[in-house]
Amino acid sequence: MTDTPAILGGEPLFDPPLAFAKPTLEEPSRVERLIGESLVSGRLTSGPVVAELEARVAERLGVAHCVAVASCTTGLMLVIQALGGRGLRVAVPSFTFSATAHAVAWNGGVPVFVEALEDTWTIDPAAIPAGVDAILAVHVSGVPADVAALGTVAAERGVPLVYDAAHGAGSATVVDGRLVELGGFGMAEVFSLTPTKVLSGAEGGLVTTNDAALADRLRQARNYGNPGDYDTRFAGLNGRLSELHAALALVALDHLDERVAHRDLVAGTYRRLLGEVPGVTFQQTRPGDRSSHKDFSILVDAEAFGMGRDALVAALDAEGVETRKYYSPPVHRQQAYAAIASPELPITDRLAARVVSLPIWSHLPIEAVERVAHAIARIQSHAATIVEKVPATGAVG
Ligand SMILES: Cc1ncc(COP(=O)(O)O)c(C=O)c1O
Repeated sequence: MTDTPAILGGEPLFDPPLAFAKPTLEEPSRVERLIGESLVSGRLTSGPVVAELEARVAERLGVAHCVAVASCTTGLMLVIQALGGRGLRVAVPSFTFSATAHAVAWNGGVPVFVEALEDTWTIDPAAIPAGVDAILAVHVSGVPADVAALGTVAAERGVPLVYDAAHGAGSATVVDGRLVELGGFGMAEVFSLTPTKVLSGAEGGLVTTNDAALADRLRQARNYGNPGDYDTRFAGLNGRLSELHAALALVALDHLDERVAHRDLVAGTYRRLLGEVPGVTFQQTRPGDRSSHKDFSILVDAEAFGMGRDALVAALDAEGVETRKYYSPPVHRQQAYAAIASPELPITDRLAARVVSLPIWSHLPIEAVERVAHAIARIQSHAATIVEKVPATGAVG
């Protein structure tokens, strides 16, 4: 292995390239058996596997209700609809995936973009403006939002608080000195089950809530607004989860703890090896809290690192390391929201300009993590030459 980065003509560290994300499947034969039983029974949706998944999730998270839905976006849309939908002004972070804001926009509501905290990258409770009708917070990359402060703001304003917990399965936060898994905070938390998530069903979503009336409404809402008598009470949609997806998620649930533990090892290894690299910093988790590490992202300070984030991404690409820029552009700068006036969000902009998300999977070999860290360190040590010889990668700044 030479010391020359691939972008300067050295050998790529990964050939074939290292995938950014990869789903983990621990017990394929158990999944096959469950799916086979569903196929034989002829019950392919809204059947016993979905019911078991809902019961098991509710029990694990200590919530009264879990309603399985077709996706996290669907779940968020239906919760926002239940809160009033049209015209609703909903405080959302901008440093998130677009679906958070889309769930509001699909209801004819107005996303009110709110600044992020510098350390955890989650919504800043103190920056939530007066006059919003609801708050939709996000546990960014699995790092719990500040649920205590958000609860206080919501109570003071008398507005409902909902969590986009797309990344939250396996995360936990300290409440009164006790570590509590996400799921029971606010009026509802909505999880995603897509393949990149720590708990996956290939596709799907889960809404957890202690509000019986909301759970009841969501069960109708995912079925066109039909409580069973075909006299629909409101305009719902087909938001059901299939038995096949539920089977995958049910088996994955039994492996959630080991998945989070492995990701913690991956994240710890990245932190240990990259902690000394000039210009690299990390997302923080509040003391005692646990992140699911749905993603692992670094911030690149161009001046200290010697080159900008986009140059690092190009150099990693040459090494065969797939990356993402979560979340760049931030949602308030995306074309979909160009018509919405947003305040200046300098912290969000700064995070978005510097962020690089590195490969992380629940079975990513630690040797690969070490090699990615080595790639970043060697790119940094050649930063001046890269900027000089490959100017297209973007200079410092
Ligand atoms: C923060 C966030 N919210 C919502 C979603 C949407 O989830 P889904 O694809 O299950 O609808 C995602 C998807 O990655 C996400 O990252």
